[in-house]
This record gives sequence, C-alpha cells and structure tokens, in this order.
Amino acid sequence: MKTEGGSDAAKRRAGERAAEAVEDGDVVGLGTGSTTAYAIDAIGRAVADGLAVRGIPTSFQSRRLALEVGIPLTTLDAVEAVDLAIDGADQVVDAPDARTDGALIKGGGAAHAREKIVDATADRFVVVADPSKLTDRLERPIPLEVLPDAHTVVADRVREFGGDPTLRDASHKDGPIVTDNGNLVLDCAFGSIEDPGELATRLSSVPGVVEHGLFVGMADTTYVGTDDGVEIRE
Ligand code: 5RP
Repeated sequence: MKTEGGSDAAKRRAGERAAEAVEDGDVVGLGTGSTTAYAIDAIGRAVADGLAVRGIPTSFQSRRLALEVGIPLTTLDAVEAVDLAIDGADQVVDAPDARTDGALIKGGGAAHAREKIVDATADRFVVVADPSKLTDRLERPIPLEVLPDAHTVVADRVREFGGDPTLRDASHKDGPIVTDNGNLVLDCAFGSIEDPGELATRLSSVPGVVEHGLFVGMADTTYVGTDDGVEIRE
C-alpha cells in the first residue's frame, strides 16, 4: 500500500488507536510529530477520565503538548522501566518477506536522538503512521544529529560512504536548525538503501555523530491509519 502525502484523518486514527494500548500505571514514551500528537491528545483525555500514567517526552514539542493536555511527566532516570513508547516515522519498510521489514527512518522533527533512547528502552515500541510512510525500501535522506564542531568532518565521512549530506536549515531564520540537545542536523541522501542495518553501523561509528535516524529492528508493532480504519502490523 503506497500513497502520496499524509492524511490528517489517517494520522489521527493511528494515533488514537495506539493510545488505546496504554494501560493504567504505564510509563509511556511520548514520541514527536503530528501523528504522535494525536496519541498524546488521546492519552490526555484518558488521564482526564482517570487513567494513571506517566509520560516521558522525547522533545520540547511533545513535552509542551503533554503538559497542555495534563499528562504527568517523568524522566528516564526516575523510572525503572518504560512500558510502551508511541512514536511516528518518516518512512517504514512494509515488506513482510524482507529482513528489513519494520525498519524506519526517523528525525523529520530533529528529535531522533531522544526518540531512539526512549523507544529502545520501552518494553514495547509502537509506530504510528499513515500510508504515505510505507515503502518497500528506505530511500529518504537519513537525519544525522551531529556535534556543531563536527558537522563538516562528518559531512566528509558521509560523502566517503556514498552519501550526499545537507545541513538542515531553519525555515524561520537565517541559519541551521538546532536540536533540543544543542546540536545540528545533516540530512544525508543515500538513494535506495539495500541494507539499513549495515549503514546504521557505519554511521554510528563516525566520531561527532550523536545519533542517526535509522531505527532497525526496533519496532514491535506499526499502526497504519487508513481512509476508514487502522491496520496493525506486528
Ligand atoms: C521526529 C520524527 C517524527 O516522528 C517523524 O518525522 C514523523 O512525523 P509526522 O508524524 O509529523 O509525520 O521522527 O523526529
């Protein structure tokens, strides 16, 4: 199933259905982005109805929204475990027969470093997406969060790996975007990625890379909102 562009209704269906997986007493990782925002809203409504949860936001944006809708917050170092993380994605491999099934590109919101820590820590990581995110092969540029001093040397290494890096600019000012961690983002085009796991290992090995946006073998379930429902991929 491949379509162009993401529908808000599909994102809302995916987010709201994922929120139903949250149970009383859970510690919940709160991802970043417009699809996850629907889940955060829905969790907020459940909290207003008496659900006892604690959320761990993955960005300033998700923290602000969680506070707005009344979700009590905590931090990774204050809990023993994270029961569930709900997070969006920029691309999701949907190829049930391939070993790359479920691999993701994340970081469209420049939050992938914190997202990866929280999503990897969770007992269960649920991805929420609309059909436009599904693909046979990952092919979007991979966001790399990099230490500011290292952005040119990391860009050189990415070129040696066959990638084409672009420093992500802020749309609202003359300069690069700065992450919640005070770092920069290089969006690195590699074309169609045959082996995301191998590329992930190479990118992690570059000094100055804080985190990359390839999430391989991490997702437990994907909720795909459609025109009239939600498809659940285990
Ligand atoms: C932020 C992310 C987002 O989850 C990803 O960009 C998807 O966002 P959206 O749900 O708005 O399409 O990785 O870093």
